[in-house]
Amino acid sequence: MSQQFEINQQTKPGAQASEISITDITFEHYRELLGIGEVRPRLTWIVRTTANAWQQASYQVELYGPDGQLLEQTDRLDSSQSVLVDWPFAPLSARQQADVRARVAGTDGRPSEWSQFCRVEVGLITPNDWTAKFVTPDSLGDDDSVQPVPAPLLRKEFEVRSSFTQARLYISALGLYEAQLNGDLVGDHVLSPGWTSYRNRLRYQIFDVTNLLRQGPNAIGVMLGDGWFKGRLGFGEGIHNAYGDRLGLLAQLEITYHDGTIERVVSDESWKTAAGPVLENSIYDGETYDARLERDGWSAAGYNDQNWTGVRSLEWDFTTLEAPVGPPVRRIQEISPVSITISPSGRTILDFGQNLVGWLRISVKGEAGQTITIRHAEVLQDGELYTRPLRYAKATDRFILRGGGGEETFEPHFTYHGFRYAEVDGWSGQLQSCDVTAIVCHSDMERTGWFECSNPLINKLHENVVWSMRGNFLGLPTDCPQRDERLGWTGDIQVFSPTASYLYDCAGFLTSWLADLAADQSEDGIVPFVVPNILEGPVIPAAAWGDAAVIVPWVLYQRFGDSGILATQYESMRGWVDHLASISSQKHLWDEGFQFGDWLDPAAPPEDPAAARTDPRLVATAYFARSAELLGQAATVLGKPEEADHYLKLASQVREGFNNEYVTPNGRIISDATTAYSLALEFDLLTRPDQRQGAGKRLAELVRESGYLISTGFVGTPLICDALCSVGEYQAAFRLITNKENPSWLYPVTMDATTIWERWDSMLPDGRVNPGEMTSFNHYALGAVSDWLHRVVGGMAPAEPGYRRLKIQPVPGGDIFSAVARHRTPYGMAECSWKIEEGQIEVKVEIPPNTTALVTLPGTGSQDEDKPLEVGSGTHSWKYSYRAPKAGPGPAFAR
Ligand code: BGC
Repeated sequence: MSQQFEINQQTKPGAQASEISITDITFEHYRELLGIGEVRPRLTWIVRTTANAWQQASYQVELYGPDGQLLEQTDRLDSSQSVLVDWPFAPLSARQQADVRARVAGTDGRPSEWSQFCRVEVGLITPNDWTAKFVTPDSLGDDDSVQPVPAPLLRKEFEVRSSFTQARLYISALGLYEAQLNGDLVGDHVLSPGWTSYRNRLRYQIFDVTNLLRQGPNAIGVMLGDGWFKGRLGFGEGIHNAYGDRLGLLAQLEITYHDGTIERVVSDESWKTAAGPVLENSIYDGETYDARLERDGWSAAGYNDQNWTGVRSLEWDFTTLEAPVGPPVRRIQEISPVSITISPSGRTILDFGQNLVGWLRISVKGEAGQTITIRHAEVLQDGELYTRPLRYAKATDRFILRGGGGEETFEPHFTYHGFRYAEVDGWSGQLQSCDVTAIVCHSDMERTGWFECSNPLINKLHENVVWSMRGNFLGLPTDCPQRDERLGWTGDIQVFSPTASYLYDCAGFLTSWLADLAADQSEDGIVPFVVPNILEGPVIPAAAWGDAAVIVPWVLYQRFGDSGILATQYESMRGWVDHLASISSQKHLWDEGFQFGDWLDPAAPPEDPAAARTDPRLVATAYFARSAELLGQAATVLGKPEEADHYLKLASQVREGFNNEYVTPNGRIISDATTAYSLALEFDLLTRPDQRQGAGKRLAELVRESGYLISTGFVGTPLICDALCSVGEYQAAFRLITNKENPSWLYPVTMDATTIWERWDSMLPDGRVNPGEMTSFNHYALGAVSDWLHRVVGGMAPAEPGYRRLKIQPVPGGDIFSAVARHRTPYGMAECSWKIEEGQIEVKVEIPPNTTALVTLPGTGSQDEDKPLEVGSGTHSWKYSYRAPKAGPGPAFAR
């Protein structure tokens, strides 16, 4: 570090006798520990201590039965590993409950106390654990009709003896289910079992229903919805019955008695069925509910079901059943309308002030048969609800009142909407804001990442990214939540996964999706455009989309430190790269076939989103090199040296091919466009010494010439700020990110956006909606720049997988005078904050126990990362005089 600065460094002194404790033990990436699907779950513990530079020297783990009996214990094992430690005991078995505790000792020799016990319970593991059958109502037609049918109710009564100690419900559906026991809803999940590649993987859920049972007669009732299994899916007319034409239920209730005996109530031919009050339900179109058709008491004992008809069993492959590895979808937040207004055409419009995903709950009094109709949309145009961007999704819920004078409360069961505004029709009297609540739903992941800086517009941009992640992490990573898509578009999550991994613990969520990706990959390794794949026609490869197969596992490895994800996905990763090798030219170019390219480059006209400035074939070969390189690195991590050699060599051949075809010796690129230069710089494709410098210079020139307006689509957007910084053009990156003109990241913020838009100008400056087809207002892809905000402006990045070593290198710039990045790493909470005041900069960091950090302080001359400081865990701060670099280039280039 340069000595011309007087640096005042402080490391908070550790307390005299430092306390060391374990705050948390987790199993694999599970957030829910009831019913895990792994019999050898890897363990992670987070250590809290006041000691500085704390490193773990040893650990010990114990396993107890639920009765408090010690089953197994390890010796004190000398190891510094605290994240995803291999299960040290005999495998658990299906249904087994166990309590795990751990203690550790630091390199200073001091031990921690034993941690609290952490209870885990295994779910059902093999097909033999199931005695239930899949059943389907006889009454449902046999044809593959696409006409809506009322959601069927299925029920069964049973006796419970006294002295039961616990009860578990294992349940899944071909379609969606909502279960009740004795009139009470089971659990708090919604839209279960979620969407997976059903023919390969069908999730079941596990609920503790002990408190819902009673001695004597009991009843279970389940309502089934069409969901993704059977309902309409995909853009345009879409398809129906993607996975089958009959809804099905699988339910196994296990009641354990004092003496250890288990009695089971399982779905079989003895159940009965009738149509319920949900007349129509569709993920895209919404739900129609007729409360006059409610069957009072249907899920309680003693209900007269004589008129109900039978069910029959349905064939299904039980090897597809899996306990979920990601968290369930829940109701996460409630939002009241910020305004209720009457539109120019006289309609009642609610504004929730936030583009969100979920539905409305309404409380209403009225007459029998009165129908309340709710239409949802993300935007208004000319003061009216504007639904064209929804394309073929009707996004309309209808509630038909039962009447009788009392207040009735409705929520849909088997649909969801992306909306900020709702139009309510059929309300009698004045609609009050207390009558309506928006229910925000998404996968219930733990929030782990925060960012804030001195520029309020950037903070709003960041908040919008968080909302777009929330809106599109509903069971699987989707492109958008509102129109007739909501599909697992591979390219979108490929670019967004680094941001996602910072904001929320999405390791389990994305691990699950990657299993679907592998399942839906073609035999010759092609990754479909969407996962789960429901698109008709042959599966064909597309660069940046199919590369999700390699890049997403690599990102999860980097951010969560889980090499197991690489091992699990390795064949899928290899399949993709081998396929690219098989279709590439002799010169190692991927230059044939369909490509999305730099999708939604702002220069592309509304009707042709693929018409980008950067040649799509250049994008394809760049990604081919990138995936081959990362696969080679993954093979190294997994201890496969020959395969590593093979793929690293392939990567260098592809780089060579890229250079020969597209790059001049001085680094000019045939597609003279910012995305092309960003790819070349960030994917390290430039093989000759002068090329990097030349490419960097040209990239900065193009950015200046564009007046610092954004000029990249899905491919270039996540890369351009990093690419500029990598060639020292920090201030150009700051001018890009702080620009408010259209197109830019902040333009939507100035237009009152509350989520990230699909295209830079989904709403035009005159307040009208872009005429293109691709005009979602909730698409996270362009929000991928947040990862740069976290790593560069916030200054915190992983220097080793899982943040075992952190890279702390904040970069002040533009009009940003302070920033803070905070992330719960696998080792615990980490933070980097800095602020510039009166010619001084103060940088403060918090480094979690059992990690270290490489710190490069801004303005000290060590920006080249050659000689970072290495510090251990604890809090550290530095304060020194600092002169902010001149913002931007000279006036010749300024707008
Ligand atoms: C989706 C995208 C997706 C794209 C493919 C769109 O319809 O909404 O986000 O990646 O198609 O180019």
